[in-house]
Amino acid sequence: MTQEVRTVQTTIENTASSQQNQDVGKGRGVYISTYGCQMNVNDTERMYSLLEMQNFTPVEKPEDASLIIINSCSVREKPVHKVYSEVGTFRKMKEKNPDLKIGVGGCVGQQEKDNLIKNQPMIDFVFGTDQIDNLPTFVAKTFEGEKKQVQAKFEHRSPYHIETMVRNPGVATFVNITKGCDNFCTFCVVPYTRGREKSRPLQHILTDVRHLVKRGVKEVTLLGQNVNSYKGDEGVDFADLLAKVARETDIERIRYTTSHPKDFNQKLADTMAAHQDKVMEYIHLPFQSGNTRILDRMNRNYTREEYLEKIAMLKRTIPNLVLSTDIIVGFPGETEAEFMDTVTMVQEVGFETIFAFKYSPRPFTKAAKFEDQVDEETKTRRLNYLFDEHDKMAFELVKRYEGQTMKVLVENVDREDGKIQGRSSSNKLVHFLGTPDLIGKTVDVKITKAFPAVFRGELL
Ligand code: SAH
Ligand code: SF4
Ligand code: F3S
Repeated sequence: MTQEVRTVQTTIENTASSQQNQDVGKGRGVYISTYGCQMNVNDTERMYSLLEMQNFTPVEKPEDASLIIINSCSVREKPVHKVYSEVGTFRKMKEKNPDLKIGVGGCVGQQEKDNLIKNQPMIDFVFGTDQIDNLPTFVAKTFEGEKKQVQAKFEHRSPYHIETMVRNPGVATFVNITKGCDNFCTFCVVPYTRGREKSRPLQHILTDVRHLVKRGVKEVTLLGQNVNSYKGDEGVDFADLLAKVARETDIERIRYTTSHPKDFNQKLADTMAAHQDKVMEYIHLPFQSGNTRILDRMNRNYTREEYLEKIAMLKRTIPNLVLSTDIIVGFPGETEAEFMDTVTMVQEVGFETIFAFKYSPRPFTKAAKFEDQVDEETKTRRLNYLFDEHDKMAFELVKRYEGQTMKVLVENVDREDGKIQGRSSSNKLVHFLGTPDLIGKTVDVKITKAFPAVFRGELL
């Protein structure tokens, strides 16, 4: 049996199991509130697709729903608080509409399991990140009257076989290639909420990309917590996968996220350069801290110098490369001088975009138990300082793009005012004026004004 046939069979099996309770969604609306990373955005699409097979109708407002699901994130404390405040809001709706059912999925669901139901009696069911394919079954049971279901097992033994399910993929979409993470950075909850790392078989990914191309997709982002530790069948690594997607499918643009600096090698950089017609010249490479002692305490497995060497190698190998990064400030024990190493790292590499966060202690993680936690005020001060220093640099850095011509893939056009939104090959958001027939086309745009987060331009 070929891999392609097997993927189709999985779909049929999924469909068959959901047909058992196909009527449950008739006349009922479903609303999913989504937090967190692209994995969650993709998981939400999967949930909507499965629930549509049960005849639920997706609705825009929670007030119109009979089923509300919160697809939660636990990476920092803030998004966890949002789950509780949303549950509070939905509770009031439930008082008015007794048919309304509320479920919590995603990383907080995985982390809290039964605790959520104990603390929040209004929640009808909780499910973990590995239980999405069983959602139709426990939704049906919930509407049949079964109370307080908790499904948060990891399917440790089964291989990672899921096919991409997006309702309206549009011009650019995501394809999962790995799930989970085995790196155990000492600050991070993801290895606990997403389980052990697994890779999808190469042929399944190629089949998905080909199907998406048929549906009009021009750009895919290969998605994983740690894409460059991808291990496909027969010794295929991430660089091989990238080359195969470029060579063996008709997709126009390929991106990927996220990469870990320790796994980024010359082979991958060479592959990007060799396929620059399709693989975009943009890399998101989180460094987290610019200080080697802190990196060691974070269990990141590289030093400041090693990170800088990789950046030099990447810039040498990939012409016009654009980089972005993630940073944590106020990690336990971080001194003022160690924090300044992070600031100089941003300046030395010349990141045009940074995503920086105050360290937030997470359940199960080692760093949450470190005794030398940094106080909130210091964290806030350091974060603001870092953003200010970055702003000073970034506005200057991006000025060099003014007057340049960029290849922009048109994603959206506002039909009323003709405002187009697209992305350059270097992942810059570009706004310009045009017509709806340009959606899905790659056009030349001259940049007239460049800000760090968005460019303005004119269609050539
Ligand atoms: N897998 C990706 C990132 C996953 S989480 C990677 O390894 O790069 C996304 C970002 O959230 C991280 O890069 C980190 O900067 C931030 N983050 C993770 N845990 C955090 C914590 N406990 N406090 C603050 N920021 C955190
Ligand atoms: Fe978290 Fe580190 Fe894994 Fe990224 S690599 S998901 S930061 S443990
Ligand atoms: Fe959040 Fe889970 Fe993603 S913790 S960042 S939704 S993997």
